[in-house]
Amino acid sequence: MKLSDYEKSILAGDFGEEAQKILDVMVKIYEINGADDFVEVKEVMLASTQNMTISGTLGMDFLTRLADSGIRFRTKTVTDPVSMDIEAWQRLGISSEFARLQEKAIRALINLGVVPTWTCIPYLSGSIHRYGEHLAYVETSVVCFANSYFGARTNREMDITAMAAAITGRTPRYGLHLVDNREGQLLVNVKVDLNTTSDYDVLGHCVGKIAGTRIPVFKNMRGDSSTQALMQLGAALATTGAVPLFHIQGLTPDILFDPEKYGRRRIEEEVTITKGEMETAYDELNTTRSSEIDFVAIGCPHCTIEKIRKVAASLDGKRIKEGVEVWICTSRTMRDLGLAGGEIQTIEKAGAKVVVDTCMVNAPVNQMGFHTMATDSAKSKFYVSGSGIGVRFGDTGKCLQAALTGRWEE
Ligand code: F3S
Repeated sequence: MKLSDYEKSILAGDFGEEAQKILDVMVKIYEINGADDFVEVKEVMLASTQNMTISGTLGMDFLTRLADSGIRFRTKTVTDPVSMDIEAWQRLGISSEFARLQEKAIRALINLGVVPTWTCIPYLSGSIHRYGEHLAYVETSVVCFANSYFGARTNREMDITAMAAAITGRTPRYGLHLVDNREGQLLVNVKVDLNTTSDYDVLGHCVGKIAGTRIPVFKNMRGDSSTQALMQLGAALATTGAVPLFHIQGLTPDILFDPEKYGRRRIEEEVTITKGEMETAYDELNTTRSSEIDFVAIGCPHCTIEKIRKVAASLDGKRIKEGVEVWICTSRTMRDLGLAGGEIQTIEKAGAKVVVDTCMVNAPVNQMGFHTMATDSAKSKFYVSGSGIGVRFGDTGKCLQAALTGRWEE
């Protein structure tokens, strides 16, 4: 590989053992993938602190030593949500022992140079990208969104390779950084109306299972799909499948730029999604028949201000049922807009909690004694059900109704 003098000095150990190890692993991984040069990245997104403090490759001690070594990120770097609301973790029932560990990881990340957005919708906090710009992102829904919505170019990075990109400002040129690897492979004929953002979740759930790692091309989809709807679609595609990029005919930039190349040339299969497939998927997303709800979680990916406004309008003047915990998860940026507009006050007055910096997947909800969660997100269903909590899946209105009554209506 063609390494810069700076990268060579890191490999020689001039910036400490931790940086040396990260770059060493990165070079080996990329040699396996056949890359022999690099692209400059405009932005990097690292994994959640959950990976760093609990189970990931980059453990807490390693992260602290890296920050203490004096090395600093060379390019703008953000992270996935952390595992608690940094300012209000106590009211989520998080233990002080857990919070101290999170604070240590957060301090190390800030010392390394992270921009503290702590969200999976960084594009609504300044991470706006031009068509063709190179990135190195970890979080799967953001990878899918940045590739598809902006036409930016990022692979699904691992914790360690994203850290290497943050340190060097570069990532090896392979995978989705090469235009020929961005061509659609699975044509999806959408023969069903998509009326709610949860319908986009369900569509993503169905198609992700069929696509696997292939790139889907959607046809007959509405041209006025909202940003929130496309966020939900990408998050679900990247959950049941390992889809890093999708194209929508007449809507997303790669396919608008060259419909033949991205939409037709490499198609190897065509599938049709009808009302029947959608109903089956809605069923699959409900992991329990229990109608008693004690946890309602909205905001995976994090809520846009438009969604916060809808939630506030639905809860205005009403009261959450006693014993039901309700989290509306969003970024600090969206929360601050909602505070200025009064929506956050309306939501909190009803008894729900507007939660920032974290989400129902990254926070330790499995330690909070919940039995059944209502959610409007296929991705959060996938991860939360893995921790043993029963899940009821439906559109946002249905989840909020369950918050008010404590019951899931069939
Ligand atoms: Fe975001 Fe957490 Fe969902 S990081 S995409 S809200 S799992």
